[in-house]
Amino acid sequence: MLKKLKQIVLYPFNFIKGKLSKSTSSIDSIKPGQGAVIEIDGRKTAVYKNADGSVLKLSPTCTHMGCTIEWNSDEGKWTCPCHGASFSKEGKVLGGPAKKDLHKIQREDSLQESN
Ligand code: FES
Repeated sequence: MLKKLKQIVLYPFNFIKGKLSKSTSSIDSIKPGQGAVIEIDGRKTAVYKNADGSVLKLSPTCTHMGCTIEWNSDEGKWTCPCHGASFSKEGKVLGGPAKKDLHKIQREDSLQESN
């Protein structure tokens, strides 16, 4: 009950914090097996780097209520600071309250989202 109340009270703060935060990281700064939310062509992008150096690009917008996800390096997954949803490195829902996977970004040049 206290956890739910805390999430409700902190939701606006966490939502805005995620939208306003700036990242100076680049794809090159992400180590293999890690992820980060970085800006590519002015758009926030959740990037996971595989062991072979290839990358997966996802929308960093949580499919529950729109907060910006974060990479949890200890658990090797994306998590949402607002209500605790979690997603695999590929963006599949691992835990609610989100019910939809993160949107994949298909093309590197336009950063179009699909799903
Ligand atoms: Fe609610 Fe992400 S916005 S879990």
